[in-house]
Amino acid sequence: MSAAESRMRRWLALAPVIPVYTPATVDEAVQVAQALVRGGLPLIEVTLRTPVALDALRAMVRAEPAAVIGAGTVLDAGLLRQARDAGAAFAVSPGATPDLLRAAVAEGLPFLAGIATASDLMRGLEHGLDCFKFFPAAQAGGPALLQSFAGPFPAVAFCPTGGISAASAPDYLRLRNVRCVGGSWLTPADRLAAGDWAAVEALARAAAALPR
Ligand code: 3PG
Repeated sequence: MSAAESRMRRWLALAPVIPVYTPATVDEAVQVAQALVRGGLPLIEVTLRTPVALDALRAMVRAEPAAVIGAGTVLDAGLLRQARDAGAAFAVSPGATPDLLRAAVAEGLPFLAGIATASDLMRGLEHGLDCFKFFPAAQAGGPALLQSFAGPFPAVAFCPTGGISAASAPDYLRLRNVRCVGGSWLTPADRLAAGDWAAVEALARAAAALPR
């Protein structure tokens, strides 16, 4: 296993949930990072879906240096390098193109490639990866599909993401090939708009206590 892969595996064990957060402003991002960490979730995915996302990522890393903050929605090799330069500890993608897999391995950046089928997964294995994002988890087959992957791929670890809630997370977390789940339910748009960081912290605290 590469050093990057073993780091990614270690981080996936930090908490039962990776908050998937899309930043609206840099100031908001700093407050969110602090609230999530206070609530017990030190592993955070910042999606690169807004114009401020890279600046927000940089500010979050500065504000919470002990947290492990990565970039999500990394769609190509260029974005992967930009994320790394902004201080991302790891990268997450909804998919697993050969170009992106090659770039992640070449950069040595811990990487969670998105997979939804056995063939996607096997392409990732061919590039030396052994933990993956299962996306979109609920829509692509949910816990039943992940359980089926445990037969042919017993050593592979997953972080399912997409359509998961506080209520459905335990159905994934009880599977032996699931290390943690990802979700955006920790940062609801109305709470962010209201600047209600205590609510974000409370959601994080409840998620951090989920059994696995
Ligand atoms: C992602 O970007 O990984 C997912 O869109 C997050 O999924 P969710 O919003 O359904 O939690």
